[in-house]
Amino acid sequence: MTGEKIRVPDLARMKARKRKIAMLTAYDYPFARIFDQAGIDVLLVGDTLGMVVQGRDTTLPVTVDEMIYHLRMVTRACTRALVVGDMPFLSYQVSTEDALRNAGRLVKEGGAEAVKLEGGVTVAETVRRLVEVDIPVMGHIGLTPQSIHRMGGFRVQGRREGRAAGCRERLLEDAAALEAAGVFAMVLEGMPAELAAEITERTSVPTIGIGAGPECDGQVLVMHDMLGLTQSRKPRFVKVYGALFEAAASAASAYAREVREGAFPAPEHCYPAKELSS
Ligand code: KIV
Repeated sequence: MTGEKIRVPDLARMKARKRKIAMLTAYDYPFARIFDQAGIDVLLVGDTLGMVVQGRDTTLPVTVDEMIYHLRMVTRACTRALVVGDMPFLSYQVSTEDALRNAGRLVKEGGAEAVKLEGGVTVAETVRRLVEVDIPVMGHIGLTPQSIHRMGGFRVQGRREGRAAGCRERLLEDAAALEAAGVFAMVLEGMPAELAAEITERTSVPTIGIGAGPECDGQVLVMHDMLGLTQSRKPRFVKVYGALFEAAASAASAYAREVREGAFPAPEHCYPAKELSS
């Protein structure tokens, strides 16, 4: 499948062939281009942009217009990866009509090939309507960041004991409701690995885990976390594959030093008075 454009139905084929799905978030043209060329299967323009790009504490303030702005940059960069756009908080919860209109905008104006929304049983009807008008939907259950105030923080869901105990059964019901409503894939976030494995086993829909163990059909990470672009405390599930914060800081301080010392620009960076003959 490498090299060929990834489309929505390919994810089901990948699950059937046990070929793991590699998904990352992306928010702009340069990184989307790098990830697309590196062979990432799915790029999610996540509402995490509120936190990692805009520097906010939660994803809640992100707007549909902001999602469209970032989606345009990402879709412009991609030739192979499937591009999914997140539906931000309150863009799909108020009414089905609102959800249709906003999801339609992500597709028509942003170029998204699918949308993602958070929730299970409670959003199943909305998912069904979107799927009916041919907007492919990716579900998202478990630790759903838009529910931060109900959860009392970014907390692992579906444990057998502790604060989130008891929601295990609800998560199994959520996964079944999303499958019945017609999602083409679902993100399982922040739940015990064995619960994610059980959901993955029970559903025919590809599952994409983030903090949900290795048995999911694919994995997703937030690009700033995996590239080492943030200085914030990393959750347990994050593996850091790069050190871009340090690399960018050292490049910026070398530049500042050379500007102050007069070492930059050097003659090779200057335009001569006469045009050079070619
Ligand atoms: O918004 C986002 O980036 C997400 C991922 C963490 C799955 O929903």
